[in-house]
Amino acid sequence: MKQMQPEYRTYRVWDAPTRWFHWINVLAVLGLIGVGLVILFNRDLGISLDGKITLKTIHVIIGYVFVLNLLWRLVWGFFGNAHARWRAVLPGGPGYPRAVRAYAAAFVEGHPQAYVGHNPLGRLAVTVIFLLLVVLAATGLVRAGTDLYYPPFGGFAAAFVAKPAVDPETLAPYEVGS
Ligand code: HEM
Repeated sequence: MKQMQPEYRTYRVWDAPTRWFHWINVLAVLGLIGVGLVILFNRDLGISLDGKITLKTIHVIIGYVFVLNLLWRLVWGFFGNAHARWRAVLPGGPGYPRAVRAYAAAFVEGHPQAYVGHNPLGRLAVTVIFLLLVVLAATGLVRAGTDLYYPPFGGFAAAFVAKPAVDPETLAPYEVGS
């Protein structure tokens, strides 16, 4: 008897900008974790104050790449292909609760439904990941401002800590005022 061969089809799912976002994000997060850990253990590693400031500056530069890349992806969610759009990423929309129940039931039975793009539960996971990335970006930018007086919040931080007679723009990180 002739055996049936499965029929395979190729689907173009993730568009180029979404792939670029993904891999730039991977590299930026790994870089931030790596340099962040060195900053965290700077004393144990015997790093000088100047070295620490340099590391923080490098961390913030990688942080800007991370933030800009994330902002780009948030905008691309309005223009990208059908799978990259928010409609296909965020949970909700007509029939979503039913789709989640059907997906979970099939998964538990051991026959997960195949989806092109994110499955209904995957959409929840991706949304949580995006929210966490936005929180990391926002808190990182605040720290860059308060710790190193870097934009976009550095100007406010410097104006807040500068003594009345001191021009905030002349403040340098870790400078001890008289
Ligand atoms: C995946 C994202 C990120 C991770 C995993 C991460 C990780 C870390 C770690 C482990 C530290 C050391 C904590 C400490 O010494 O208390 C740190 C510090 C710091 N991070 Fe990040 N970071 C991320 C994103 C960012 C971003 C986006 C920025 C800014 C653009 C940023 C700016 C800073 C600054 C300025 C510090 C020094 C803060 C201080 O010593 O007070 N980080 N980060």
